[in-house]
This record gives sequence, C-alpha cells and structure tokens, in this order.
Amino acid sequence: MMPLRLYLTIVLIAIAFSFTSFAIDTSPHEDNFLQCLYSYSHNITSISKVVYTKTNSSYSSILKFSIQNLRFATNETPKPLVIITPTQISHIQTAIICSQHHGMQIRIRSGGHDFEGLSFVSNVPFVIIDLTNFRGIDVDVENRTAWVQSGATLGELYYKIAQKSKTLGFPGGVCPTVGVGGHFSGGGYGTLLRKYGLAADNVIDAHIIDVKGRFLDREAMGEDLFWAIRGGGGASFGVIVSWKIKLVQVPSTVTVFTVPRTLEQNATKLVHKWQFVAHKLEENLAINIILQRLDLNSSKQGEPKSTVLALFQSLFLGSVDNLLPLMEEKFPELGLVREDCVEMSWIESVLYLFRFPEGEPLETLLNRTLAAKDNSKAKSDFVKIPIPETGLEGLWPLFDEDGAEDVLMVLFPYGGIMDKISESEIPFPHRYGTLYKIQYAVHWHQEGDEVEKLHINWIRKLYSYMEPFVSKSPRAAYINYRDLDIGVNNINGYTSYKQASIWGVKYFKNNFKRLAKVKTKVDPLNFFRNEQSIPSHVSKGRK
Ligand SMILES: Cc1cc2nc3c(=O)[nH]c(=O)nc-3n(C[C@H](O)[C@H](O)[C@H](O)COP(=O)(O)OP(=O)(O)OC[C@H]3O[C@@H](n4cnc5c(N)ncnc54)[C@H](O)[C@@H]3O)c2cc1C
Ligand SMILES: *[C@@H]1O[C@H](CO)[C@@H](O)[C@H](O)[C@H]1NC(C)=O
Ligand SMILES: *[C@@H]1O[C@H](CO)[C@@H](O)[C@H](O)[C@H]1NC(C)=O
Ligand SMILES: *[C@@H]1O[C@H](CO)[C@@H](O)[C@H](O)[C@H]1NC(C)=O
Ligand SMILES: *[C@@H]1O[C@H](CO)[C@@H](O)[C@H](O)[C@H]1NC(C)=O
Ligand SMILES: *[C@@H]1O[C@H](CO)[C@@H](O)[C@H](O)[C@H]1NC(C)=O
Ligand SMILES: *[C@@H]1O[C@H](CO)[C@@H](O)[C@H](O)[C@H]1NC(C)=O
Repeated sequence: MMPLRLYLTIVLIAIAFSFTSFAIDTSPHEDNFLQCLYSYSHNITSISKVVYTKTNSSYSSILKFSIQNLRFATNETPKPLVIITPTQISHIQTAIICSQHHGMQIRIRSGGHDFEGLSFVSNVPFVIIDLTNFRGIDVDVENRTAWVQSGATLGELYYKIAQKSKTLGFPGGVCPTVGVGGHFSGGGYGTLLRKYGLAADNVIDAHIIDVKGRFLDREAMGEDLFWAIRGGGGASFGVIVSWKIKLVQVPSTVTVFTVPRTLEQNATKLVHKWQFVAHKLEENLAINIILQRLDLNSSKQGEPKSTVLALFQSLFLGSVDNLLPLMEEKFPELGLVREDCVEMSWIESVLYLFRFPEGEPLETLLNRTLAAKDNSKAKSDFVKIPIPETGLEGLWPLFDEDGAEDVLMVLFPYGGIMDKISESEIPFPHRYGTLYKIQYAVHWHQEGDEVEKLHINWIRKLYSYMEPFVSKSPRAAYINYRDLDIGVNNINGYTSYKQASIWGVKYFKNNFKRLAKVKTKVDPLNFFRNEQSIPSHVSKGRK
C-alpha cells in the first residue's frame, strides 16, 4: 500500500484532470510525460529503475521478452515511446495519470499472448505498462483460495498451487506461458472446463487501478465493474493488478491419454461420433481433439501430399480402472486400451497435456519463454449442431493446401457445468447449447509479406468454409482468441456503439450492452482503448 499522502495527491491530480478539457495532443510528448512521471513519484530512484525509453540498452529485450507472435515484432511494427515495468502500485497510478495529461495511450501487458498483439502495439504514441514484476502468488490452502498478480503465468500459478497441495488445482488454460492478466479478464479455459467452468468463473475478488488512478477492490469497484473484468477483456476498464481465485478440488491421481487416428484409421467417423458424445460425458472426463496435418512421404503425382491426424487427448479426474469401462460404454469406437492411459498427479497432467514428454521436471512450468516463437494467426468458432460427415470430408482437402503446413484445429467439448451457468453470469456468454468450441491456428516461420498473405488467406478460407456448420446470428467468437478480422474500432476517432457491436456481439452477445454501460460509467472519455475495446456512449467527438 502506498502512503496516504501520495494517494491523496494522486486522487487530487486525477480530479483536476477530469475537469480539464481533455483535448489530446497529437504530438508525442515523451519528455513531458517522463517529467510528469518523475515529478509525481515519491521516490525517483524507485521509478527510474522501471522506466525504459528507446535510449535504454535493454529497451528492446524488455519489449521482445514476452512477445509470442513474431508477426508483431518486425522493424515496421510500431514501438512504444516508453515501457514501464512497475514494481509498486504507485508506478501504475502515476503512469495512468501522466499518460492522460500528455496524450499518450496505454497498452497493458501481462503475458503478451494476445493473438493480435494488442497488449504491445498501437498506431498512436503509446506507453506499455508491463506487469512482469507483478507476479506474486499467495496460496491459502486452508481456505482454498489464492491471490495471484496479473503478471504471473498460468504455469507459475499451477506450480505454486501444487507445491502447497496435491489435491487442489485451478481451471485455467493449457499453455503455461499465458499471462494471468489477459487470460482471466477474457474468460480463460482449459481441461477442467467441463467440471469447474472458466478461470473467470472462479474469480472472487480483484484489485484494479482505474482511469483516475484509484486502487479499488471488489467492494470499492462495485459489482458492475467486477462483472465486466471477468470476461469482458481487462484493457477497456483499467489495470487489473491482482485476482483472488477459488481453488478447485482435484484427485491426487488423474488419468490422461492421447490416441492418434489418421483419416486412414477412421478419423472422420470418430470425429463425427465424438460430437454426439463428448459434451454429454460425465464432467470428470474431457476429451479434446487436436486436428493436424501429417505429411506423407510417399505420395504420387496427383495424390494428396498429406493426411489429417486427429489426436484424441484427454484428462480424466479418476483412475484408469474407472475410465476404461466408461469409455467402453460411451465411446467404444475409439478403442481405448489400458496401454494408452497414464496415471499421474494433476500437476504432471498439466505438462502432459501441453505435450511434454513424461519425466519433464515440474520447474519447466516456471519457464516464461517455453515455446519457440513464430508467426501465427488464430480464429475461433462455437458449434451447436454436429457437423455431418460430408462436412468433415470437405474440410480435409484444405489441410493439403499450400499455407496449411503447420495448422492446428482444436475441438474443446462443452457441456457439464458450462450448461448450467447463465449466459449473463459474467460477460462470457457461450454456455448452454454449445457442443464444443473450435480454435483454428496457422503458424509459419519465414518472414515476408507474401508468406504472411498465403497463411492468413488460408485460414480465412478455412473460416469461410466452416460458416454453414457453426453458430449463427451472431457467428460467435472468443475474445481470448482475438481476431481483428471480425471487426475493429476506429482507433483514431469516434467509434459508435453500433460499429463496435459488429465484433462486440460476437464475443459477448447481449452482454455487450451491459459492458458498454459499465464502460460509460467507469471510463466515459474512453481513455483505455484499443482496436477492440468496449465503446463509451459519451466518447463522441473526442479524438
Ligand atoms: C500459445 C497460446 C496458448 C493459449 N492457450 C489458451 C488456452 O488454453 N485457453 C485459453 O482460454 N486461452 C488460451 N490462449 C489465449 C490467451 O488466453 C489470451 O491470449 C490471453 O488474453 C493472454 O493473456 P496474456 O496476459 O498472456 O496476454 P496479453 O497480450 O498481455 O494481454 C491480452 C489482452 O489483455 C489485456 N490485459 C493484459 N493484462 C491486463 C491487465 N492486468 N489489466 C487489464 N488488461 C490487461 C491486454 O491489454 C490485451 O488486450 C492461448 C494463447 C497462446 C498464444
Ligand atoms: C527508493 O527506492 C529505492 C529503490 O527501489 C529504495 O532502495 C529506497 O529505499 C527508496 N527510498 C525511500 C525513501 O523509500
Ligand atoms: C534508462 O536510461 C535513463 C537515462 O540514461 C536512466 O536514468 C534510467 O535509469 C534507465 N532505466 C533503466 C530501467 O535502466
Ligand atoms: C481463512 O480465511 C479467514 C477468513 O477470511 C481468515 O481469518 C484466515 O486467516 C484464513 N486462513 C488462512 C490460513 O489464512
Ligand atoms: C474402421 O472402422 C471399420 C468399421 O467401422 C472397422 O472394421 C475397422 O477396424 C476400423 N479401422 C481402424 C483402424 O480402427
Ligand atoms: C515424413 O517425413 C518427415 C520428415 O522426414 C517425418 O517427420 C514424418 O513423420 C514423415 N511422415 C510419415 C507419415 O511418415
Ligand atoms: C526455457 O525454455 C527454453 C525452450 O526450451 C530454453 O531455451 C530456455 O533455456 C529455458 N529457460 C530456462 C530459464 O530454463
């Protein structure tokens, strides 16, 4: 906590600002911004250690550190004038206040996994608040809760929980390097989804710094704002510093399996059948499908270069002895046998499900730069009616095209508790009636516009092929699989509610209305904004 005197100073400055005209300078006032930072800091030594401008030798490594998608790490990618890696709440408060005073936009970064780079790229003069130093995790086993700061990764969180208890876990994403800040504020799901819901469903308190620089907990921010940041995307509302979460019960032994089937091994029929089975299974069992291209090395002229591999990957909260009869009853076609299954602890299953070999040390979960970096583009869909076999058969040839060398299509079953949580409980609305979610992703390693165009065009073609088979009016999407193709705000001018609802209802359905109301109340002048931020009803006319 900061001293009361400083807090009051900031509040007074904030109030003073809210009465000024808010004409935003179009020219970057980096020097003035820095002066402002230093003059409002109670400890100049402290803030100077966390402020990087382009002249600092480590500016570039700090910027690149958590960028996952190299598409947004080229020489042409717009760079921040300043990066701040706060170590204290007051650093964040000062940065928010000074940015408003000197016409800088803020981008907030936790884990840097945004699929469109929105946490670290902007076309106007901007500052990055990078929360990498805010990654404390405090696990309370007795009360089955934890406080976790936004800059922590999911891997760090899971590791810390498992260190304290073998029978507690948390229902978040699969990839250990994803940041808590973006993940929780956009929903966040993983293999415990069917039993425990989203990460955001299990948040019970939070600390946010709002546009006036105020530090607010759940009680102080009120239920509307607390609702909005659990799935509505954090970046529209303020800087969320930490989250209090409910931990969930996991058995000390879980069972995992990965069963691969190619098209030649009946993958089409199995995927088809899975659509009728997976969402109805008991909620202790989640079977995902990962669809990949598998290159064939002996193909003849005119024959396909590749086949499709479907990996049936599963987490069962129980023993192999209980799993086998269940699979025999519900999904015998898959032909699961004991040898496919491995029993392990929940924390080991986290590594397994991220496809690490057995025996990988748990400390790997603490590595923030695990994945080899490359370029990618992702999209999402929700399926409510099973896709007919002919629909699947029409899909496979796309996997054989140029541009599809490195693609992933992941099918995540719904049902279970997801059917029981109301659509308006939190902003994430994709609940009852959803059979499964699809994530599409295409990756490539080479640089260059042509290569990028080839891959992005390919995934757009795939998305357009899928249209008849997925949710309609709206064709729903998941905000954490950010996709600017579905609509963007006018970032340098006024965005009407109507314009923003083009993408807004896809992510949030009817909840978009309430999100805009909350936004209007907490950030009426639309300071916290990006290409897909919630619009304020009163931001008209403001540049
Ligand atoms: C390899 C990979 C695997 C993934 N796996 C999964 C998965 O299994 N399940 C799943 O649900 N999703 C998954 N995702 C998507 C992931 O959940 C989102 O990209 C998420 O937003 C990333 O959070 P972040 O903090 O790492 O990202 P960032 O890029 O730091 O932030 C994402 C967005 O949130 C905002 N934001 C970040 N921190 C804060 C904060 N503290 N306060 C306010 N706003 C903030 C940013 O400004 C930005 O708009 C995956 C993504 C990748 C790249
Ligand atoms: C100022 O910050 C520095 C570095 O964080 C610290 O060493 C020092 O004790 C602080 N001074 C005061 C007066 O708090
Ligand atoms: C960046 O450079 C400035 C000017 O040399 C210096 O005052 C500041 O401490 C540096 N910041 C960091 C984080 O090293
Ligand atoms: C559990 O919560 C109660 C009430 O909030 C608190 O008094 C107690 O200290 C907590 N237990 C631990 C181990 O922190
Ligand atoms: C594919 O399905 C057919 C009939 O449904 C079955 O006879 C055959 O064994 C299956 N092949 C494999 C590899 O599972
Ligand atoms: C084809 O060759 C590549 C590289 O040599 C190998 O990785 C791949 O597994 C092979 N595919 C098949 C189906 O044998
Ligand atoms: C993290 O993982 C990467 C990729 O495997 C590796 O190169 C790096 O050395 C690891 N870092 C640490 C600190 O172990």
